[in-house]
Amino acid sequence: MFPSTTYRDRRQALASHVKRGLVLFLGNEYSPMNYAGNPYRFRQDSNFLYFFGLDQAGLAGVLDVESGESTLFGDDVSVDHIVWMGPQPSMRSLADRVGAAQLRGRAALADVLAEAQAAGRPIHFPPPYRHLTQLRLAEYLQCDVTTVLDTASTELIQAIVRLRAYKSEEEIVEMEKALATTAEMHRIAMRMATPGLTEAQLVGAVHGVARSAGGDLAYQAILTVNGQTLHNHHHHNTLRSGQLILGDYGAESTGGYAGDITRTFPVDRQFTAQQKEIYQIVLDAEMAVIEALRPGVPYRDLHLLAGRVIVAGLSALGLMKGDVDAAVAAGAQALFFPHGLGHMIGLDVHDMEDLGEDWVGYDGEIQRSEQFGLRSLRLGRRLETGFVLTVEPGIYFIPELIDQWRAKGHCAEFVHYEALEAYRNFGGIRIEDDCLITDRGYRVLGPAIPKTIAEVEAVRNAVDH
Ligand code: GLY
Ligand code: MN
Repeated sequence: MFPSTTYRDRRQALASHVKRGLVLFLGNEYSPMNYAGNPYRFRQDSNFLYFFGLDQAGLAGVLDVESGESTLFGDDVSVDHIVWMGPQPSMRSLADRVGAAQLRGRAALADVLAEAQAAGRPIHFPPPYRHLTQLRLAEYLQCDVTTVLDTASTELIQAIVRLRAYKSEEEIVEMEKALATTAEMHRIAMRMATPGLTEAQLVGAVHGVARSAGGDLAYQAILTVNGQTLHNHHHHNTLRSGQLILGDYGAESTGGYAGDITRTFPVDRQFTAQQKEIYQIVLDAEMAVIEALRPGVPYRDLHLLAGRVIVAGLSALGLMKGDVDAAVAAGAQALFFPHGLGHMIGLDVHDMEDLGEDWVGYDGEIQRSEQFGLRSLRLGRRLETGFVLTVEPGIYFIPELIDQWRAKGHCAEFVHYEALEAYRNFGGIRIEDDCLITDRGYRVLGPAIPKTIAEVEAVRNAVDH
């Protein structure tokens, strides 16, 4: 946790961006896995964590934006609970840790909200993403559970984005911790992989590193020989010589901040010649984008820059053709690069996605495209000092997509479809780093993880398998 002043200052700043009424943050509760007593790992709501800092279940926080007063709602546990859970910090000590002067029992929350409603004061809350939160809100605010989502406060959403988008020094320290663990997770997989092991064995090792550091995975690990499936959470394959392993995973630090890194490496000690050629294009795209990071540049332009590097590289290999800019304007690169270049990252791996992607990644100046590929770009707006974002271009050979485009003759002036036959079983390559935008440009966060072909092959050659 940060010092109590951090949370007080954040709430004060939030109060200055919201005109009237109360802001309600419902902390998360345990979520049952197969019965109530056997819950998923507890993950606190990120907005609650940002403004009220506490990682315990069953809490709520209210900020009165007019008086500036903060109240924490929660109950001290009974001895019956202590028998099962062990001693717990008192609610008063928890409230002090986050600088909340007022402390009330949880049962008082309904009354406080009802009073505010009766007085005609607005109650702002962020959009709920868990059904239990949705039910609680409907109960507290006496509204229909099916419409409660529609009444989430856009004024609050915009105010939160104005704060959380800019990472402070202490947040960067926490993100560096997440990335130090994430680097170790990647190194262990690169050292361990060998034909005959399963993806699941690698995932177990990677997860173990995250748990050993005191945190956990920031999201379900993508670790697969089928990298062409973008969010592949199956880990049942056995590694075979000739395959590529795409590993996209990151640690969540003990403070709740995420790392999100991707590396792709061969099951063998070396890449094949074909793999090397594609890998180098992805690396060139990633490096070109990183070098272009600076305040003021629209991230959408960098997505298109990555597209141009990919089209030029694939054209040099005889897989694409025609004018590079025209191909990118037509979205032809999306056959190989169908996702966005990256997203903000912080307390969430896709930071603040619960608030709505477009509130976070777009603005009045730059709106989301409807074009296949570009429409998946989560962050399009101009970059600003203090943003932390991922840079994650990739090239994938997705047989079903290739067949569909080919049958329709889509972008036939830019794609050598016959030449793609030799790549049907290629899989996919993605390379991803997390970068801070600084006044002067950028800083790649976290320790270096082998990335060039020579670096990756050096690690693969150094191990005994
Ligand atoms: N790390 C997965 C993603 O960014 O979607
Ligand atoms: Mn990512």
